Amino acid sequence: MTMTIDRFTSMRPEDYGLPGEADLRARLAEYFPEFGAARTTIRGPAVVAGNMSKFNIPRAITPATREGDFPVDKIRADFPALSETVNGRPLIWLDNAATTQRPRRVIERITYFYEHENSNIHRGAHTLAARATDAYEGARGIVAGFIGAPSADNIVFVRGTTEGLNLIAQSYVKPLLRPGDEIVLTILEHHANIVPWQLIAEETDAVLRIAPVDETGRIILPAYGALFGPRTKFASITQVSNVLGAVTPAAEMIAIAHGFGVPVCVDGAQSVSRMAIDVSAMDADFFVFSGHKIFGPTGIGAVYGKSDLLEQARPYQGGGNMIADVTFERTVYHCAPQKFEAGTGNIAGAAGLGAAIDYVSAIGMGNIEAYEQALLSYGINELSKIPGLLMIGAADHKAGVLSFVLENRGVEETGQYLSEAGVAVRAGHHCAQPVLRRFGLEATVRASLAFYNTFAELDFLAERIETFARRR
Ligand code: ALA
Repeated sequence: MTMTIDRFTSMRPEDYGLPGEADLRARLAEYFPEFGAARTTIRGPAVVAGNMSKFNIPRAITPATREGDFPVDKIRADFPALSETVNGRPLIWLDNAATTQRPRRVIERITYFYEHENSNIHRGAHTLAARATDAYEGARGIVAGFIGAPSADNIVFVRGTTEGLNLIAQSYVKPLLRPGDEIVLTILEHHANIVPWQLIAEETDAVLRIAPVDETGRIILPAYGALFGPRTKFASITQVSNVLGAVTPAAEMIAIAHGFGVPVCVDGAQSVSRMAIDVSAMDADFFVFSGHKIFGPTGIGAVYGKSDLLEQARPYQGGGNMIADVTFERTVYHCAPQKFEAGTGNIAGAAGLGAAIDYVSAIGMGNIEAYEQALLSYGINELSKIPGLLMIGAADHKAGVLSFVLENRGVEETGQYLSEAGVAVRAGHHCAQPVLRRFGLEATVRASLAFYNTFAELDFLAERIETFARRR
């Protein structure tokens, strides 16, 4: 295949002065023993009431880990939006769980598409059609490689995680369901991984069964396992909670489900930007994510599916591109993935997603995870010192989400106060009301991290929150 995007894919880790992942883990392990292990962990109670000593953080962060190991200044220069000012203050973007900012190379990749490649795909024997098809299918290959899929044919482009979950529900799961059949979810799920299952359960008289979490936000595995039985037809689980940052033991949860012959979908919306994903190693049957959560465009995302399941699934929508032959009597569909991609997709968006994945791959997902974990430890440490701040969620494996409430302060006014200081956080229910209610709350303030955030930004966040908490 002729690729036309070489100038966007030429970056290497050395361009960022980065060590290999093993080197960085070894260096961080001097400060955080957990970084020496395959999986990083942060331990602590679910709710921390202004008392840092309750938090069993491995060790204090030293100046070396604050600034030495990760070229965050160089990385930040790649993101134009991070130079914005808001209310006369430098923007501090801590709303990364809602959406991430885009590096210049993603923006340029989309511009390049419209300037040099713009055409519809798969049709027309002309040069731009070939360029556009190369861009689109090249991105499919990049996605497949990035998440460890066996082939580009396992990747379906969709609008995002929400559309991906609806596709799986309608196309694969609904035809399996009979009255009384069961679908297993967890209480951690985003509404996008609840409502599509409710819709098909209503239509088929199926039942949703919900796995609980303990007071730290960790899945109670025996309780999860106990939900499975002869009527269980499917399970759909998040890999990282968008409210708590809790990382679920997805591979173990999949293994339990497979023990009952039940296929599993993993919602990767919050994990895909924070850790290396290998759908084959975890043996996921489906995996979904959105481009905009991983520094790519909005309106593009991907569904990974095992080949036999994709072949078994019905088409999601009917239209052009997804057919091999149409008469008024019957239609022959293409094989997956085209079978699920009716109409003209987001071709430029796919190219932009490919560029985003190239970008994070150049930095290295291991490096990104290690840096974000160091930021997270530091953020927990600093926020936990603030009198009257209650932090929600401290599973022993946690990703970069800091969810909290302040005593005597509403979440909306806290978010507004921070916004006036240039700090973007989300205040609300985060489209995940069941898990908030599990902790007796309707809303939190949420600061969510990405690898372009800095320790200084967390210092500023903590200082502003403390000032607001003390103000009468
Ligand atoms: N899922 C996004 C969030 O958690 C919108 O904010």
